[in-house]
Formats: sequence, C-alpha cells, structure tokens
Amino acid sequence: MIKHDVVVIGGGLAGMRAAVEAAERGADVAIVSKMHPVRSHSGAAQGGINAALGNREDDSPENHAFDCVKGSDYLGDQDAVEAMCEDAPRQIIWLEHRGCIFSRLPDGRIAQRPFGGAGSARTCYSADVTGLVILHTLWEQLERFNVKVYEEFFCTALCIEDGTGTGVVAYNMRTGDLELITAKATIFATGGAGRMYAKTTNGYASTADGLGIAYRAGIPIMDMEFVQFHPTSLKENGVLLSEAARGEGAYLLNADGERFMFKYAPNKGELASRDVVARAEWTEIMEGRGIDGCVLLDLRHLGREKILERLPQIRELALDATGKDAIDTPIPILPGMHYTMGGIETDKFGATRVPGVYAAGETACVSVHGANRLGGNSLLETIVFGARSARHAIDYIKKAGDVKPSERTLRAERERIDGLLSKTTGIRAPQLRKAMNATMSENCFIFRNEAQLRKAAEELQSVREQFKDVYVMDKSRTFNTDLIGTLETDFLIDAAQCVANGALHRTESRGAQARTDYPDRDDDKWLVHTLAWKDGNKPRLDYSRKVTFTKWQPTARTY
Ligand code: FUM
Repeated sequence: MIKHDVVVIGGGLAGMRAAVEAAERGADVAIVSKMHPVRSHSGAAQGGINAALGNREDDSPENHAFDCVKGSDYLGDQDAVEAMCEDAPRQIIWLEHRGCIFSRLPDGRIAQRPFGGAGSARTCYSADVTGLVILHTLWEQLERFNVKVYEEFFCTALCIEDGTGTGVVAYNMRTGDLELITAKATIFATGGAGRMYAKTTNGYASTADGLGIAYRAGIPIMDMEFVQFHPTSLKENGVLLSEAARGEGAYLLNADGERFMFKYAPNKGELASRDVVARAEWTEIMEGRGIDGCVLLDLRHLGREKILERLPQIRELALDATGKDAIDTPIPILPGMHYTMGGIETDKFGATRVPGVYAAGETACVSVHGANRLGGNSLLETIVFGARSARHAIDYIKKAGDVKPSERTLRAERERIDGLLSKTTGIRAPQLRKAMNATMSENCFIFRNEAQLRKAAEELQSVREQFKDVYVMDKSRTFNTDLIGTLETDFLIDAAQCVANGALHRTESRGAQARTDYPDRDDDKWLVHTLAWKDGNKPRLDYSRKVTFTKWQPTARTY
C-alpha cells in the first residue's frame, strides 16, 4: 500500500505547483498522474500569465481584480479574485527566481503584452509557449525536491472515511493493478473537460477525471454552464491560435475585409473579453459574412520579424494545419471550446466541503472566473491556487490525525472495473462519447435556448443510462487504452450533464452563457452560483451559494 501525507492528482501546472509548495514546506508529497507531467495539457497554454507588475504601464492588483470581476460578468467571488490578483506579482517573481524564462523588455524587465478585457498590458509571456516554459520550470523543481511521481496511474475514486478524505484509488496502467494510495490530504489538479465537445482546443487528456471523481464522492460541482469558446481556434483542427496574436495587434476580418469587432465592442475591438469576441464572430458567420464558416485572423501588418520573435508557434501551427503562412496570408479561424469556468466547488483556499480534499486549476471552481475568464488568468490560477491549496493542506495535516486505508473503496473499485472487463457484449464507450460530443456541440454552443438545452439534457440522460451496458473489448492488463478511454468517457458524461442542466435552468444571459430566449442578465435572480450534486443518474441543482461581493457592485458590462 502506498502512503503519503499529501497526494496531488494531476501533474500539470496546478498539480506541480502544489507539489513543489508542499515539498518546499517539508511535506511528504507525491503526484499521481495518468501521463508524464511535462506532457500535461498546461503545456499547450500559449499567450501568457497575468500579473500587475506594471513593467510597461501603471497597473495595480486592484485594477487587475476589477478587470476580472467585470470579465466574470459579476459572477466571480470578489474575495477570491482579490486574493489571486494580490498574489500574482509574487508568484511571477517566484517563478522567475526558479529559472522561468520570460520574454524581456529592452531594459531587462519582464515584458507584458495586452490581452482581452484588460485595462493594462499585464500579461507576462515567453513568446507564445508560456505554458510549456512554466511546465518545464516546475518539473525541474519537482526533480530538485525529489518529489515522487506515480506516472501512468489513472485515478478512479476518492476515498472518504468518517466524512474525511483519506486518499484515492488509482489504476496502474503498466500493470493493470488497482492501488490504494492513502493520504491525509488530497489535491485534485486534473485539468479541464474539453473532450465533452467534438472540437476543442484541449488535448485528448482533458477528460474531467477529477471532476467526475469528486462529483461521485458527493462534492458539488459549481457553475458548469459557463463554457468558454476561444475566439481563435483553427478551422481545420480546432487547435488554439493564441489571443497573444490579437494582443500584439492582429485583426479579425469578415468576408468583406471589415474589422468587424468595433461594431460589437467600440472601445476594445479585437481585445474585448472572449465571450464578447466569440459571439461577435459567430454572429458574423451566421449572418452570412463569414468565409466557408469562419472569419479571418490577419497578422500580416505585424511584419515578419515580430511574428517570428513573439508568435513563432502559432505561425507554425497554422502553417502545418492549413499550408498558409500567417506572415503573408490571413488564417481562417472560428470560436472553439477552450475552458470550463466551472469545476469542483472550493473556498478561496482551494478546500472542498470534505475535510482533507482540495482542488486547484481548471478542475476547480474557486470562483475567480465567474461567467467568463479573461485570457492569461488560467495560468495564473494554476500557480496561485496550486500553491495556496498546498499551503492550506499542510496546515490541515498538522492538525489531522492518522488516516486509515480505505480498503472498502479499493474493493468497490475492483468490482466496478472487473465488471467492465468481464462483459463481452453491450455498447461501446466510443459510441456514447460520439453521442455526447454531438449533442454538446449542437445544443450547448455559444448561443443556447430552452429547446436545445432540454434536448441536450435528455440526450445526455439517455447516454448516462446506456453507460451501464458498456463493455470493454480489450481484456489485456498492460496499457489498456480501451479501458482508460471508457473510464474517461464516464467522467465526461458527468461533466456534460452538469453543463446542460445548469445552462437549462439558468434563465438569463451572463458572460459565456448566452440564452437567445433570455437575452438579458438578471441580477435580481441570478447572482448565485449553480451547485450540481450527483443524484442518481442526473445532477440535482442547488442555488444556495451566493456570489461574494467586496468592492464592486454590478453595472452594465461594455467594452
Ligand atoms: O490565447 C491564449 O494564449 C490562451 C490563454 C488562456 O487561455 O489564458
């Protein structure tokens, strides 16, 4: 049996930051990850990480916090937002002191670029590979502290004994054995749920694992109806072309060659917040001003030198996928599923309602993004709340007693997985995933209405019910990707049901939730979070958690 003080599930930025913080504080910490940490999807984050360093122009954590609150369409909890923005400059310096290579101004200070919805240029970056650079910095720190990594371990369940988290059960993908991993504190940092949709900027591993595990263990999932569609994903394959392109000055053009964004956001144009830009693009396309179902991202006027210095990766990604060189040709793009603002409900320290269980990064809902996240705040959230959840967990374990291994959870998981493997007929998980992807892409997209959302909720309910008949064809024990894909699909269905039901019952438009049948924001009724609790085969929704306000009362949101 494996035992540690703190176990972190997931080896991306939030997970590694949590583990390094715990290790620096002398805790016995381990990471459990279904892949090698530097292959995590955090490595696909491109444009940068926000902090009010004020290296290019005056800025302050308070200005940063206001931009987030406005960006969140007043659904973000303002105490958590303030905590994140105040900690941001410290975390950037922390990274820098550990060798993170940020791009620089000519005088040597860290360079910062403008990003959408921001009042100042506050996005620190490493060209357009920021996530990858930070990922490698943190990996070096893990090595420095000799943090144990259980790699190719797929976590299947959370152990709870007497109301307290006691670790997890994980499937060792190399041997096919289920392992009980006992810990006084468990931190989920398993990333996003992008694979609910047919097309997404997310990697294949973004399958809502932590979210599904927490939900099944009785922890509520918060605000899942708020799904971010990034304005610039490649038409061909859905891959992200960073907002950094627009930050550096790129234009969005319609079929008439018009820079259409100023019709929708007179002050900010292409640098309005993402929900606004995604809706504007989709409106242009739906009203017949698109080109083959997309609009164009035009970088030509930036010039070869700037593109090669600051945006080399997106040029290559576009070139590989389309054969078009952004230096001299506009690139066809459209909005693509990018991020879930919602996730495992936590407080502002990353603690869930179950003592000893934490969540950080995209899998968590703290909530700092509310109804719409600003670009550059996802990397920031991973770093701030990775560290913060670990600090809180360390304080917690000092007071917590010893925990006993949850043999009953191990037995239940053995039974469940043996059940999947022993069946020889039934339905296959890819069929169910396809049905889920289809209804999410069709009915839970940028604009939604009651009929679509009801259809999505019903179709997902049917997918959920059919899952009991799923069987796994591959019966082997080593690297059984059929089994892992099936378990991932199971978690994704949970996440998708939370999205569709949350969106159906929130009868207003706010941030990324744009209801054509309820086009206005309704502050009298909806300044509350959506909590989804697992109740048999569907979520039970609860609106008992109100939004926390500190300084900023809701006003009309324009850019
Ligand atoms: O566009 C981007 O580079 C993505 C950044 C983010 O999602 O924060």
